[in-house]
Amino acid sequence: MNLSKSIKEDFINLLVQKYNHKEIPNSSLIPVNDPSVLFTTAGMHPLVVYLLGELHPLGQRLVNVQRCFRTDDIEEVGDTIHHTLFEMLGYWSLGDYFKELSLEITFDYFVNKLKFDPKRLYSTVFVGNTDVELDRIAIEKWKELYRSVGIEPEVWDGKDFNENTRIFPLLKTENWWGPAGETGPCGPDSELFYWRGKEKPDFRRFVPWDTSNMFIEISNNVFMGYNKTKEKTYVPLVQKNIDFGGGFERITLISQFKESDGSLDMKYSVYDTELFDTQRTLLEELSGKSFQDSTKEEIKNLRIILDHMRGIIFLLTDGVIPSNKDRGYILRRLIRRVMRSGKVLGIEKSFIIELGTSFFETYKLQYTHFESQLESICEILSSEIEKFNKTLDKGLRKIEELSEEKEVITGRDLFYIFETYGFPCELSLEALDVNGKDRLTIIDDFNECMRKHQELSRNSSIGKFKGGLSDSSEETTKLHTLQHLLLRTLQLTISDEIHQKGSNITPERLRLDINLDRKITQDEIQTIELTVSEKINEGISVDKFDLPKNEAERIGAEHEFGQKYPDTVSVFVIGLRENVNINDASRKDYLSAEFCGGPHVQNTNEIVSDGKRFKILNQEKIGSGILRIKASLV
Ligand code: ALA
Repeated sequence: MNLSKSIKEDFINLLVQKYNHKEIPNSSLIPVNDPSVLFTTAGMHPLVVYLLGELHPLGQRLVNVQRCFRTDDIEEVGDTIHHTLFEMLGYWSLGDYFKELSLEITFDYFVNKLKFDPKRLYSTVFVGNTDVELDRIAIEKWKELYRSVGIEPEVWDGKDFNENTRIFPLLKTENWWGPAGETGPCGPDSELFYWRGKEKPDFRRFVPWDTSNMFIEISNNVFMGYNKTKEKTYVPLVQKNIDFGGGFERITLISQFKESDGSLDMKYSVYDTELFDTQRTLLEELSGKSFQDSTKEEIKNLRIILDHMRGIIFLLTDGVIPSNKDRGYILRRLIRRVMRSGKVLGIEKSFIIELGTSFFETYKLQYTHFESQLESICEILSSEIEKFNKTLDKGLRKIEELSEEKEVITGRDLFYIFETYGFPCELSLEALDVNGKDRLTIIDDFNECMRKHQELSRNSSIGKFKGGLSDSSEETTKLHTLQHLLLRTLQLTISDEIHQKGSNITPERLRLDINLDRKITQDEIQTIELTVSEKINEGISVDKFDLPKNEAERIGAEHEFGQKYPDTVSVFVIGLRENVNINDASRKDYLSAEFCGGPHVQNTNEIVSDGKRFKILNQEKIGSGILRIKASLV
């Protein structure tokens, strides 16, 4: 790790010795001075109060290397340059020097210290808007710096490029940094990019702000002169600050793999650097896959595992615990994504603890707060893994089935998988490899299902849908009739004493609670599924009768014990024998009869469409003597 170590040391030494900065400690990923964000996403978070004017005990010029965690780029992780957890080289001027000296320092570090070829560097600046003008000062300074090394730079006019184009004024979306949360210090910025191609960049194909990663963003100088308020206004700060951030892993990547002409092959990624040597070798052993000679998909998954595992160890050592909320949820998601990638790669052995321990050992020397935490974080990890293993197996199997059955998968399908197996939408999307617009459509669709579901849960908990029905769609109607058939079949197969104790039906599945103090055996499940399917295929009629309550009870119609029913009730009867008057009927004269408001199909043969089959999806004991069964047409 000599190279990466010297990258950090050179940075700190330059700033301390040449530019009089003081080194400040590294802070937790759980923000200390900035409640507006979930994580420390940049070195500036612990400094927010000082950027807003409070005096820092170490003065106005500060420097450090800060551990950072970002989720914005999580979908990009697996390419050559993105991370969730990374280390940021940072220096600050708190109301001391401003734009010019800061760009000079940045240039000095990259060109003189790291010996990056200045011909490969390209700068972007803020083009201006109605509130803040074009950043002429930054443009002039960049020109001076490039000229000092014999480069004649031209400023892009927003239309045409030529071979000297080097400074790009861009919109706020590109060249304005922060605040990371809703409020806080922010301002126009200037980013520096490294061109990795063999030839000079052809700007018709590649520009610094595209997603090709041919230009690698290596640093950002933020000219922090504004405070964004709750009212969304940008108030100029009396104290103008510099906030510099440099991507340590990316700088290591370039330093380690650039050829003598400065180019950097696309086969090299941040994961190939010495920073990951130990864990890369370990993962190659565990997976039997190589980081260089595997399929694109495999390499992506290998990289995801390395990135996320490092992030997981950093989050755990900073005290984050997996949960369903906020930071804990992000951590849980990382663990789950690692497990999923491991499955995709076919890693049989449980590898998370081994790999996590390896990261722990690598970083514990540098990060002293890691000390003596290994045992406790391994315990947390193990229990989380165990929980998710069950979900993962079922979910992935279901996704596979689904993609074989259906050409177009919808958000509703994924919601069903989420609801039934607890398998998260984002993992389904990854397993299905859906990207771009389709991905967004599915996510919208999924969220809409989730919203409706939450609304329905609220409504049903206040008793709006007494019959346990969520709606009266075609699917729900079919499942409703199916529920009556299922209850009757359970009675016929297991015991006449079985009755309904609760129900809930959505378009995706039915849920039936019955009084049974054991689980149904596999044999019984087979018999039940077969019998229900037969009844569907037989095309049995379903009829509705409005009867006085005592009459309905007399003919033996099912009803929930303890429920309050009106004097006249509707009864749905499946398979009433021909020529039998309902008023004279008894249980032997029909297949099923239940007190019920409907809606139902009119004939059981309407239930099946698209070759779907009735299936019991799962069963669980939910309380003393109650078994919950979920079933559907799949
Ligand atoms: N805070 C700035 C960034 O993260 C330096 O890009």
